[in-house]
Amino acid sequence: MSTSETKSLEGRSAIVTGAGRGIGRAIAEALVAQGAKVIVADNGASIAGDDGDPTVARETAEALGTNALAFSESVASPGVARQLVDMAIKQFGGIDIVVNNAAILRDAFVFRADPRDWDAVIRTNLSSAFYLINAASGIMREQGKAGRGGKDGYDWGRIVNIVSSAGLYGNLGQAAYASAKAGLFGLTRVTAMDLARAQITANAVAPFARTRVTDIIQPANEAQKTYKERALKIGAHHVANVVTALCSPAGKAITGQLVGVRGREVFLFGQPRPVTTMEAGEPATLAQDMLARLGPQFTDLTTDLEAFNTEPLV
Ligand SMILES: NC(=O)c1ccc[n+]([C@@H]2O[C@H](COP(=O)([O-])OP(=O)(O)OC[C@H]3O[C@@H](n4cnc5c(N)ncnc54)[C@H](O)[C@@H]3O)[C@@H](O)[C@H]2O)c1
Repeated sequence: MSTSETKSLEGRSAIVTGAGRGIGRAIAEALVAQGAKVIVADNGASIAGDDGDPTVARETAEALGTNALAFSESVASPGVARQLVDMAIKQFGGIDIVVNNAAILRDAFVFRADPRDWDAVIRTNLSSAFYLINAASGIMREQGKAGRGGKDGYDWGRIVNIVSSAGLYGNLGQAAYASAKAGLFGLTRVTAMDLARAQITANAVAPFARTRVTDIIQPANEAQKTYKERALKIGAHHVANVVTALCSPAGKAITGQLVGVRGREVFLFGQPRPVTTMEAGEPATLAQDMLARLGPQFTDLTTDLEAFNTEPLV
């Protein structure tokens, strides 16, 4: 436990979406432990995003103590995002940290999926993050100009988007979820660029941790069974630790990055860049040429579940 002298986030105000449970709750706990004031924004929905329960945010905020406040509306609308930012300003005097963590899952093979599920997943897992960044970042810039953030000029403003290896590798039946997470990574890059001059950082974190979501995995084969056994060993506090580090004063030099956290292991993901080039010929022969010239470096169809099925460092 830190003493008040060593708390790195004293005086900082944070919004964490999906903070009522799982990884989001661990992040809210870690930010509060470092002295931040946190809005626990969670509508208490089921994994599929149904059946909201306002007691989830309330109970978590109560457990976190006087530096936490509950907000139990769904974050998936622009109006609610503005309400959240207004609440942070009114209750905590400003907004310094935004963690977009809320997400739902509605898996189905792409040839069977219901477009309404696609819309709900994109709205919750991707659009909500844009709404909140959109509502908060203008205020963060103004706060900076007004001197919030320290005696050496403005160097505050942290945005962390919780993505998923499913959005980087892909996974069977996760068209909507993976697309939302891949989109969230794109949003992270542009946010980092748009806010660089204001010294506001934006990073993406791909977590691996035991939560109610890993608990309900129904293994379809031996590989999935071992994946689940391994996933159940990984505590969410490791993810919270890295998110808190990105939000700390020293985190100001880290922006636009894609970081994975799996137990005590932290890794930096590469970002898609051309790996090899060739000059295109006529369509009649181009596919063959592409196979010959680019084929050795094609990316195979390994799912994220297969790629990370190794013993975690716990
Ligand atoms: N658990 C893992 O291993 C893992 C792996 C990859 C990515 N992730 C990501 O980590 C994040 C947290 O996942 P988790 O495993 O803790 O899930 P979880 O279901 O335990 O927690 C998500 C929380 O978000 C809340 N939420 C959902 N929709 C909301 C909405 N519209 N408004 C407000 N709150 C809403 C839920 O009520 C829930 O408390 C998610 O973004 C998820 O995609 C988790």
